Amino acid sequence: MRTIPVSLGNRSYPIYIAGNILHRLGEIMAEQSLGKRVLLVTDTNVGPIYGKQVTDILVQAGFQVSLAIVAAGESSKTLEQAEKLYDAAFKGGLDRSCPVVALGGGVVGDLAGFVASTYMRGVPFVQVPTTLLAQVDSSVGGKVAVNHPRGKNIIGSFYQPGWC
Ligand SMILES: NC(=O)c1ccc[n+]([C@@H]2O[C@H](COP(=O)([O-])OP(=O)(O)OC[C@H]3O[C@@H](n4cnc5c(N)ncnc54)[C@H](O)[C@@H]3O)[C@@H](O)[C@H]2O)c1
Repeated sequence: MRTIPVSLGNRSYPIYIAGNILHRLGEIMAEQSLGKRVLLVTDTNVGPIYGKQVTDILVQAGFQVSLAIVAAGESSKTLEQAEKLYDAAFKGGLDRSCPVVALGGGVVGDLAGFVASTYMRGVPFVQVPTTLLAQVDSSVGGKVAVNHPRGKNIIGSFYQPGWC
């Protein structure tokens, strides 16, 4: 496994790159001082493929997982959808130390990152990018957002992945 450090002062974080790396997600997260409740966000295409596997991996590592599945596609990048995810985070008992995990492409990453950046003024955020675009572009750089009827990515912030 290759680890690339992204040096951003107190917002520094590592990027882990390897084939067949998914099974290591639990151990990597368990090494951090994170709260044990996780909001795992995915979509209706990725959820059926990886949702249970990732949930099981996190549970085995000692986390309690709330799985939130949003409709696949750009139409899910809305404040309305973000609000549903805040509700899921509350229901799941997430406090400020608990991570939001984005499992999906750029849509899920941008949406879950926006929720992570705003829920309780910011909680740990982990990206598990499943499209090439998300792996090489949207999961890196810290841009998170939802759309507004007047434009794409209008409501958002800069929020790096990391353990907080
Ligand atoms: N934050 C940034 O810096 C940044 C940069 C570029 C793009 N973006 C955003 O990224 C979004 C586009 O991302 P995208 O192209 O990944 O689109 P996407 O997230 O909509 O994914 C494309 C499709 O592939 C499906 N999918 C994802 N992973 C899969 C897998 N492993 N197997 C099968 N199906 C899978 C998804 O369900 C979806 O239907 C846009 O909202 C764009 O604004 C953000």
